[in-house]
Amino acid sequence: MPSTISKTLLLTFSTLTTLTSALPHLTPRGAAIQFGFPLTGGSSELPLTPLDLSQVFLVTIGRGVQNYTCPPGSTAPVQKGASTGAIAQLFDVTAKMAQSQDFVDLVTNIAQRNPRPSLEDVSVADAGLLNGEFEKACFHFFDAEGTPVFDCGDKGIILASKLDSVPAPTEGTAGVEGAAAVPWLELAAKEGSRGITKIIRIVTTGGSAPASCEGVGADEVVQVDYSAQYWMMNNGTMGSM
Ligand SMILES: *[C@@H]1O[C@H](CO)[C@@H](O)[C@H](O)[C@H]1NC(C)=O
Ligand SMILES: *[C@@H]1O[C@H](CO)[C@@H](O)[C@H](O)[C@H]1NC(C)=O
Repeated sequence: MPSTISKTLLLTFSTLTTLTSALPHLTPRGAAIQFGFPLTGGSSELPLTPLDLSQVFLVTIGRGVQNYTCPPGSTAPVQKGASTGAIAQLFDVTAKMAQSQDFVDLVTNIAQRNPRPSLEDVSVADAGLLNGEFEKACFHFFDAEGTPVFDCGDKGIILASKLDSVPAPTEGTAGVEGAAAVPWLELAAKEGSRGITKIIRIVTTGGSAPASCEGVGADEVVQVDYSAQYWMMNNGTMGSM
């Protein structure tokens, strides 16, 4: 284990019984960043057309919440409307990926078990262990139109639209309160983006909505903690990094 890991992480690590380190990787040839693309190992994988890992310039761990509501008449929580979406702080793990992808996968999973970071757009997040180990890179939120936004400052900004979604692996990926892992996603850049042409959400832990709206008020926002890896790509058409 690298010596830079905080005490908190080591403690949490030692109490973990299920780990994500067994994720299979699809290893690219000639990529700028030498690591593989994780596979869910399930019946479907992100299509990633074209799969060109040389476009990956920033790998982050995101830690935050997915918000859901129960509008009148709904039986299961939904992610629609002004008060829902997601909000998260993203931390730069690009350098760490080159050393050990399995370690980054493990930290991604553990991050969900650590205290929620500040969910404000602060330049240095009060983000528990991740803040100590990795620099904050991006802030993720939904804008007034309900578009997911990842603001990575001078590294770029992406207003995202969903291209593909596949179920996450189920083993060892449930959140602290048992929430299933949110799907893995491939998102494209909409107008207003700069420097980032695609973003992939993978290696997710937690974040899924509870199964039922029972006991949830009409105005209540159900917040479910999650963590994930977000990989930012630039295909060369929006300025190189
Ligand atoms: C979701 O919940 C968080 C945490 O309370 C909150 O800060 C945020 O404004 C909520 N709404 C959206 C769109 O994320
Ligand atoms: C690069 O990404 C942009 C934004 O998603 C897209 O419009 C464009 O078609 C892409 N170009 C290539 C060559 O993939």
